[in-house]
Amino acid sequence: MTAGMPFSDWSKGVQALMEVALSTLLPAMEKTPQRLHEAMRYAVLDGGKRVRPLLVFAAADVFDAPRDITVRGAAAVEMIHAYSLVHDDMPCMDDDELRRGKPTVHIKYDEATALLVGDALQTQAFLVLSEGEGESARKLAMVRLLADASGSLGMCGGQAIDLESVGEKLKLAELEQMHRMKTGALLRASVLLGALSGKELSEAESKALDAYAKAIGLAFQVVDDILDATADSATLGKTAGKDAADDKPTYVSILGLDASRELAEKLRHEAHDALAMFGDKAQRLCEIADLIVQRKM
Ligand code: IPE
Ligand code: IPE
Ligand code: MG
Ligand code: MG
Ligand code: MG
Repeated sequence: MTAGMPFSDWSKGVQALMEVALSTLLPAMEKTPQRLHEAMRYAVLDGGKRVRPLLVFAAADVFDAPRDITVRGAAAVEMIHAYSLVHDDMPCMDDDELRRGKPTVHIKYDEATALLVGDALQTQAFLVLSEGEGESARKLAMVRLLADASGSLGMCGGQAIDLESVGEKLKLAELEQMHRMKTGALLRASVLLGALSGKELSEAESKALDAYAKAIGLAFQVVDDILDATADSATLGKTAGKDAADDKPTYVSILGLDASRELAEKLRHEAHDALAMFGDKAQRLCEIADLIVQRKM
């Protein structure tokens, strides 16, 4: 349907559609408690690159998935992601004051509100997935996928390792495991949610998508580490140089900049190669791999 459209037009279209969808799927500002709902909307709306929704849409495109369930999958994973950022920025974690070019939620509101915003966004994500069109079995599969990727074996577990590793010199395999969990898991879930919104996957399709998702999932955090060390806060919309200041083990601190860039590029190729069986249908997924590795913010 959108084949032939330049990637930037396609991605702007998805981002605009998602802004409306997220606004509709979040509790209205007027509902009590208004301050919490305002803060939830502050955390999610009007900001962010929306990489996870783009992945959901691109994977859904491969299998011509129906729109409603794709939008719900995309909104749900973006809500989990936004919650993870709100908590990641809190004083008990990375203690950051800037996010998406704005004061972080605990600065704009307060710490207790930031905690509750994360809690409520997390449950809202699963509510959104459980409602709307589509068979119950498919929705349940999507709920399970997202829960698994978000919990102690995925994003939360990765965040725990990240916090335990401050000041440690991790081995490369340990660093990779941390990155795969804290960031890779939700990106992988985005790809699989998009695909699942279309159909049940064959084993070969599953394997190919998984290989793609693992490559871009790791590449994303490698590039996040590179940008933290090389870009400025105004461009990033978050505090640059924070990893070194906090003595966090990162790809840059362990491999150095050049080898980190080479690794990101190698993963970009791996991602492309993994999609061969889907042909032109996977064009958007290929383009997102390029975006993830070549981005400047
Ligand atoms: C930042 O994610 C946090 C990580 C998982 C590395 P993004 O770079 O996707 O942040 P937004 O959503 O664009 O703000
Ligand atoms: C955070 O990683 C990953 C999650 C929020 C799950 P970072 O701590 O590196 O993210 P930024 O750099 O603050 O966005
Ligand atoms: Mg962190
Ligand atoms: Mg952080
Ligand atoms: Mg970072």
